[in-house]
Amino acid sequence: MEIFIDTADPKTIEELWAILPLAGVTTNPSIVAAGKRPLREILPQIRSIIGPEARVFAQVLSRESTAMIDEALSLRELDPNLIVKIPAVSAGFAAIERLSAQGVMTLGTAVYAPMQGLFAAQAGARYIAPYVNRVDATGGNGIKLVETLQSLLDLHCPACSILAASFRTPTQVLDSLLAGAKAVTIPPDVARQMLVSPSVDVAIQRFEADWHKAFDKLSA
Ligand code: G3P
Repeated sequence: MEIFIDTADPKTIEELWAILPLAGVTTNPSIVAAGKRPLREILPQIRSIIGPEARVFAQVLSRESTAMIDEALSLRELDPNLIVKIPAVSAGFAAIERLSAQGVMTLGTAVYAPMQGLFAAQAGARYIAPYVNRVDATGGNGIKLVETLQSLLDLHCPACSILAASFRTPTQVLDSLLAGAKAVTIPPDVARQMLVSPSVDVAIQRFEADWHKAFDKLSA
C-alpha cells in the first residue's frame, strides 16, 4: 500500500514528509500552476526533500499521442525516475503503450469510468487514478468506481494499481482504501484533517495529569 501527498509546495512536502509514512508526491498541472514555478525548478526541489527512491509524478499537457510521448521524455530528463501522468483518453492510451514499451512508468489519470481505467491499464500504465470527489461531484459514485476498477484489475491487469485521487474528506480516502485501492494521493488539507484529533489530545492530557498527581517527573 502506498500513500502519496498531492501537492507541489516544498514547505508542505517538508512538513508532511516528516510526519506521515509517505511513498512520494503527486502533482498535476493545476497544482504546479498554483505555485507559479515551472517543473524544471520544482521537480529537483521536491526530489531533494524526499530523496532518490521516493516516487514523484508529473503530468503532460500535450493532447496528441506523439506530443505526449515527447513531453513525457522531456519531463524524464528533469527527473529520470519520474512517473509520467497521461490522461486516460484516446491519445493517452497510445502514448501509455509506447512509453511502457520504452520502460517509462506511467499513470493513466483523470479516470471517471471503469473502461477508461481498464484501457489505460491494458496499455501498460503502472497506476490508474480514479477521481473520487470529482465523480461524486458530478452525480456519480467515486467509491463504487474504485471498487469496480479494482475488480477489473484483479481479473485482467494485476500489474496495474489504483492510485485513487481527488479527495475532499478523510472518509473518501478511507472508503477508497476499503474498496481495494492500493494507493491514494491525499491533498494536504485532507491530510491535516486526519492529523487533528481533539479526543486523542484530551486522552493524552488526562494521562499526563494523572501521572503528575502521583509523581513529580515524567520519567518511569
Ligand atoms: O492530482 C489529480 C487529482 O488529485 C485532482 O484532484 O482535488 O483537483 O479534484 P482535485
